[in-house]
Amino acid sequence: MKNTFTMTDNRTDTSYEFDILDGTRGPSVVDISSFYSQTGMFTYDQGYTSTASTKSAITFIDGDKGELRHRGIDIEDLVENHSYIEVCYLLLKKRLPTPEEAKGFDLELRHRSFIHERMKGLFDSFPISGHPMAIMNSAVAALTVFYGDHISIENEEEALEMAARIIAKMPTIAAFSYRHSMGIPFIYPDVNRSFTENFLYMMRAYPGGVMKIGNDGENTISPVEVKALDAIFSLHADHEQNASTTTVRNVASTNAHPYVAISSGISALWGSAHGGANEQVIKQLEMIGSVDNVDKYIAKAKDRSDPFRLMGFGHRVYKNFDPRAKILRGLQDQLKDELKLDSELMKIASKIEDIALNDEYFVSRKLYPNIDFYSGVILTALKIPTSMFTPMFVIGRTVGWIAQWLEYKEDAKAKIARPRQLYTGE
Ligand code: ACO
Repeated sequence: MKNTFTMTDNRTDTSYEFDILDGTRGPSVVDISSFYSQTGMFTYDQGYTSTASTKSAITFIDGDKGELRHRGIDIEDLVENHSYIEVCYLLLKKRLPTPEEAKGFDLELRHRSFIHERMKGLFDSFPISGHPMAIMNSAVAALTVFYGDHISIENEEEALEMAARIIAKMPTIAAFSYRHSMGIPFIYPDVNRSFTENFLYMMRAYPGGVMKIGNDGENTISPVEVKALDAIFSLHADHEQNASTTTVRNVASTNAHPYVAISSGISALWGSAHGGANEQVIKQLEMIGSVDNVDKYIAKAKDRSDPFRLMGFGHRVYKNFDPRAKILRGLQDQLKDELKLDSELMKIASKIEDIALNDEYFVSRKLYPNIDFYSGVILTALKIPTSMFTPMFVIGRTVGWIAQWLEYKEDAKAKIARPRQLYTGE
């Protein structure tokens, strides 16, 4: 049997043959790279609903089954048994670290968590009201100025140093962006704290340290909080060729510096159809305000003449429960008491979830809750302000973007991303 695909132009009764390429899992692809040279036509697939843009060995998703694996390992296993920085190591170095390697990577990230002292002036130049995503975006592009060293992709050590640097600095950039937007002093990283604890510290501490007295007389960063946020970072680590990752790869294809590629990824992520949805979910739950109003908003979401969409529902790839959402939902139940989750928001969310999972409109369109539907309630309990929800996504996803950038650069056959069009103008 030939592993090819034949297409016929019925206007001329001409047939064309294309190779079928098989991956290790998931659907095969038809290699149409010679389509134009053979047929004189382009293929058309708005929004890439049927197009594989690259080969990749990083992340596998089976959207029908609701399965997500990084380097072959199931996301549930990773979140349950490994820390976020072990997941980072896995994505970058293609295998999980030994305890010694994990320790070494942890130390490297702690050392690299500081940003150039002169970058502080950049934050100061923004109006106080600036959204942290906009400030982060500029600060990440500015890393090119402060750390724009020539990256030799052939030199694995240098490339990994560049990767570790941006992963380590992202929480600092996020926390500085937030503290600037609040007009409060920056808190430098504390090298004695783990990656995730350090982020909470930079968000919450006063100059001089964390307040240890107060509400319950407890240290204000609890291990439960660190564990929950670490899981959230792991759940966001990578998600194959989504809109922001595709943006990063497209920018990489022009040979631009990896830090500006990531800053472009941040722009793509900010939109409400993508990572910006987590902020919109909480705003929407707050707007709904009470369980009594849920039916009204469900009706709006179902009304096709109304642009209102239920934020946190639907996904291009998952036509089943988003496995990340399932894990977060479990975490929500587990941490309900310890994290004092907002009961009113949870009640509204759970009523929406119940209705949507049984309503014909949502069922027939396979619209399930996605990761953003659940992350907001937990982030709120972690005292993360709403404007910082999408920056949380950025911190987690940075490793995915940089791993995809590295993979792109390793591909000797990579070409500049340059799609064509169906011209409809004058
Ligand atoms: N609420 C109501 N209806 C919806 C929703 C929703 N959230 N999502 C999709 N639909 C409907 C559409 O109106 C459409 O209906 P139709 O067939 O009657 O025209 C059908 O479901 C298919 O929707 P598309 O927009 O074609 O699906 P697509 O794959 O292009 O979009 C997307 C996916 C952008 C995620 C969409 O579901 C959406 O806007 N969701 C809300 C925003 C959101 O939660 N984004 C986060 C995604 S996950 C992430 O990025 C981490």
